[in-house]
Amino acid sequence: MTSQTARQVTPQGSPMAPVPYRVTRSRAETADTVTLTLEPVAAAIPEPAPGQFTMMYAFGVGEVPISVSRTGPVLEQTVRAVGSVTRAVCGTRPGQVLGLRGPFGTGWELGSARGRDLVIAAGGIGLAPLRPVVLRALADRDAFGRIAVLIGVRTPDDLLFTGELDAWRARGAQVEVTADRPAPGWTGHVGLITSLAGAADVDPARAVAFVCGPEVMMRVTAEAFIGLGTPAADVRLSLERNMRCGLGWCGHCQLGPLLICRDGPVVPYERAVPLMTVREL
Ligand SMILES: Cc1cc2nc3c(=O)[nH]c(=O)nc-3n(C[C@H](O)[C@H](O)[C@H](O)COP(=O)(O)OP(=O)(O)OC[C@H]3O[C@@H](n4cnc5c(N)ncnc54)[C@H](O)[C@@H]3O)c2cc1C
Ligand code: FES
Repeated sequence: MTSQTARQVTPQGSPMAPVPYRVTRSRAETADTVTLTLEPVAAAIPEPAPGQFTMMYAFGVGEVPISVSRTGPVLEQTVRAVGSVTRAVCGTRPGQVLGLRGPFGTGWELGSARGRDLVIAAGGIGLAPLRPVVLRALADRDAFGRIAVLIGVRTPDDLLFTGELDAWRARGAQVEVTADRPAPGWTGHVGLITSLAGAADVDPARAVAFVCGPEVMMRVTAEAFIGLGTPAADVRLSLERNMRCGLGWCGHCQLGPLLICRDGPVVPYERAVPLMTVREL
């Protein structure tokens, strides 16, 4: 997978120098997750590919890897507050400035799936890195066969991008949501995301699968698609590890022979699965 990275150069000249970006909009997705719309204060970083991430720097607090949730003319990143840095990033208000480095890592390589059915499976915050795949595929709808978006959430309150899902349906995607634990009034599916695998209205044998979520979810979901007939070579996952440099320099993100900031986060299933039982080395 060969997406462009910012390894050599940023507008500041050093790949370790954060590039100032102003938050133009902050939209609450759930109780702990926001989507930030970002525009460069001066020069921009290179355009990220779907699946790539940036290192987002909350000045004076720290830096975290965050995938792009929209790319192109508009850059968006969707962040769940789980610790000190993500809390600071989520608390950034319109007009305030964050630093970005990147983009880093491999992308989903949607172009190589042209002409194929797409099955896009997300667990929780895993929908954020997959949203640019959905948006790109729908923007070029005739280039693909059937498109199924399967979303698993713990509770209905954890669902992201609720205001967009009907628009995705209207533009030709099948969108199915399942909740592990239903809430009062929930009329959708109940159960794990694997229970939706057979409901995807695609031809599994000609489908390319894009899967992002907790590792156990990715493993069982990928196995479900493969069991239905999707070639293992056509299943892609997005891995997460602790990161510092994003540049393949520090080794913090090592997973077996891979540096996830460089060789991932998007990795073919067959390469990822033997490593997924290995904790950080
Ligand atoms: C390539 C990549 C892309 C990512 N994309 C997104 C994204 O689009 N949106 C988003 O909200 N988050 C994303 N993350 C996860 C995000 O980077 C972490 O949540 C963040 O680093 C936590 O930092 P913190 O200082 O806020 O919390 P910390 O204080 O560092 O950690 C708080 C808690 O979160 C756990 N944690 C820390 N890092 C991770 C991780 N990488 N995966 C799972 N648990 C972790 C810690 O064990 C701890 O329990 C991504 C991570 C990677 C590696
Ligand atoms: S984060 Fe430093 S090598 Fe990957």
